Amino acid sequence: MRRKVTKAIFPVAGLGTRFLPATKSIPKEIMTLVDRPLIQYAIDEARAAGIKEFIFVTSRGKGALEDYFDINPVLESALEKAGKTALLDILKTTNMESGAIAYIRQHKALGLGHAVWCARRLIANEPFAVILPDDVIEAETPVLKQMVEAYAETGGAMVAAMEVAREKTSSYGVLDIAEENGRLLKAKGMVEKPKPEDAPSNLAVIGRYILPPQVLRNMPNVRKGAGGEIQLTDAIAAEISHGRPVHGYRFEGRRFDCGSKAGFLQATVAFGLAREDLRDEFSAYLEQLAARRHVAE
Ligand code: UTP
Repeated sequence: MRRKVTKAIFPVAGLGTRFLPATKSIPKEIMTLVDRPLIQYAIDEARAAGIKEFIFVTSRGKGALEDYFDINPVLESALEKAGKTALLDILKTTNMESGAIAYIRQHKALGLGHAVWCARRLIANEPFAVILPDDVIEAETPVLKQMVEAYAETGGAMVAAMEVAREKTSSYGVLDIAEENGRLLKAKGMVEKPKPEDAPSNLAVIGRYILPPQVLRNMPNVRKGAGGEIQLTDAIAAEISHGRPVHGYRFEGRRFDCGSKAGFLQATVAFGLAREDLRDEFSAYLEQLAARRHVAE
């Protein structure tokens, strides 16, 4: 029987330079979409997919993330005394069971592949998920859950895939497809950040993965790749060269690149409009704004 995926790695050790100066003192993953930090969306998605162990690969200056998932007795008792039960319930969604969450350090930002490799001893010999909290995906069924269900049939390695404009391939890992079967794409190759003219397709890999432990064992043989970083894509591509299956999964949902300012703003608008308590006031404001721009033009 195929092993269940119960562990997930959250690589959060990057420098987040695109959000400077904010990220000088705040981890990017603590920045909020409406009222929840990016990391909360990632954790909720993992829980919905059946993940029980949460492994954070962190770096200097990410202490706010550890505090976020700790209980806050002072705040809890203040809310309790004030009878603010709805707020207490919201607060409790951030509490993690003791021992469910582990933090390890990546001492140097050597790349995503290296960050994932730092968690190797906690993964041991099990398949595991990787979630990049920068990629926030609005979906009816959370994307990692969609993937876990598909993985139960395929095994091997699976990456979330989506079509991007040709001229954008140099920002992504890109799949070379051998066979397509509905949402499943069997890969015969994977390239990190190819120029549009060299890209084998326009199917980009985004930040959700289910990987066999073998990928971690491939890592020491992976040399620095695109951008001088140790790339996760290269360790996954090594699976294909060893004759083991790698699938792309064309997920259902809308992905926002919250690692970029424009993507973060788009997500803020979309998640704001999706909230019942904000929708009317916020959409009226956006309409007013659009009308004013129209008049100005
Ligand atoms: P990014 O490429 O977005 O880099 O990393 P970044 O440092 O977070 O942000 P910018 O580009 O400087 O603005 C993608 C994911 O990989 C993690 C990041 O934390 C993010 O979740 N990462 C990247 C690491 O954990 N370690 C690394 O060495 C590199």
